[in-house]
Amino acid sequence: MRRYISRTRQTLTIWNRRRNTTMNAQLHPLEVNPITGEPFLRLRSHPNIIITPPRDEDIPAFIPLLNDVTICDWMSGPPYPYTVEHSTFWVNKCKSECEPILKQLHDAKDNPEPIIVRDAPIRYIREVKEDGTDVFIGDVGFIRCPMGELMSPKGLPLGTFDWENKQKMEDENNALPAGDPRIIWSIGDFLDPKYHGKGIMTDAVRTFLHEWGIPRMGIRHIWAATHTGNIGSVKVFLKNDFKLIFTHEEHAVAKGKMRGINLLEWKMDSDK
Ligand SMILES: CC(C)(COP(=O)(O)OP(=O)(O)OC[C@H]1O[C@@H](n2cnc3c(N)ncnc32)[C@H](O)[C@@H]1OP(=O)(O)O)[C@@H](O)C(=O)NCCC(=O)NCCS
Repeated sequence: MRRYISRTRQTLTIWNRRRNTTMNAQLHPLEVNPITGEPFLRLRSHPNIIITPPRDEDIPAFIPLLNDVTICDWMSGPPYPYTVEHSTFWVNKCKSECEPILKQLHDAKDNPEPIIVRDAPIRYIREVKEDGTDVFIGDVGFIRCPMGELMSPKGLPLGTFDWENKQKMEDENNALPAGDPRIIWSIGDFLDPKYHGKGIMTDAVRTFLHEWGIPRMGIRHIWAATHTGNIGSVKVFLKNDFKLIFTHEEHAVAKGKMRGINLLEWKMDSDK
């Protein structure tokens, strides 16, 4: 508990300082682009990489990336082949999740305490070039866990799939209010292959979780799943203090093939 309280005090000091400027302190620790007014989170170890809200112009950028087998074969969610309709749907979905949070933060600008919100106003990863322009390079989001088959009401051990109660368990997890420590979260992410292996996603997960997820969404418990064989993704989570809980070679069919699952878990230490 001690470390969390001291971090909160530190936050409030910065908070009060910012309240005296025109910047909305509710956006802390996000920065704001002075030209576009767009909030963004700068990665801790890669200052030229930022996470911003989605933009309409991102729609074409998703299409080649989610048709690239080095990306899409590791992801269960996005369809293949990935079309402009899929991309439009996805960017609009992300916008519909981020924009209300930004509005909520603006509406709460006179609130003296940082509010806890259901989601983040930021989602897409961009590289900032020397001339100040930026380019879309990936996606990272903390979402309510979509693996209800693992949250068995029958108390089955982790690693047993209860498909019958999947939807019920996801509905219960989705219904928990913002900041509820019982919420089980998951992470969805991918990065343009040109940027792989440079520590960017490890840093993106770390920065997002510690700068926004924990203090502003109240994230305390995460289950991250990867297909078996996805060494890079497993390493991203292990390097962020997740523990590998189990590996199962037959989990579910995705893109026409039976896929295995690695389940990694992160829980916030009870003393923070
Ligand atoms: C998984 C992914 C997001 C990792 O992003 P990244 O920025 O390249 O990851 P990092 O550079 O932070 O790498 C973390 C570790 O994994 C290693 N790694 C990354 N990609 C790897 C790969 N394809 N094979 C083996 N190791 C890999 C890195 O070398 C690093 O290890 P190290 O610290 O021991 O050197 C990226 O590879 C990707 O977009 N993959 C396709 C989509 C995907 O798998 N999404 C996740 C679904 S669960």
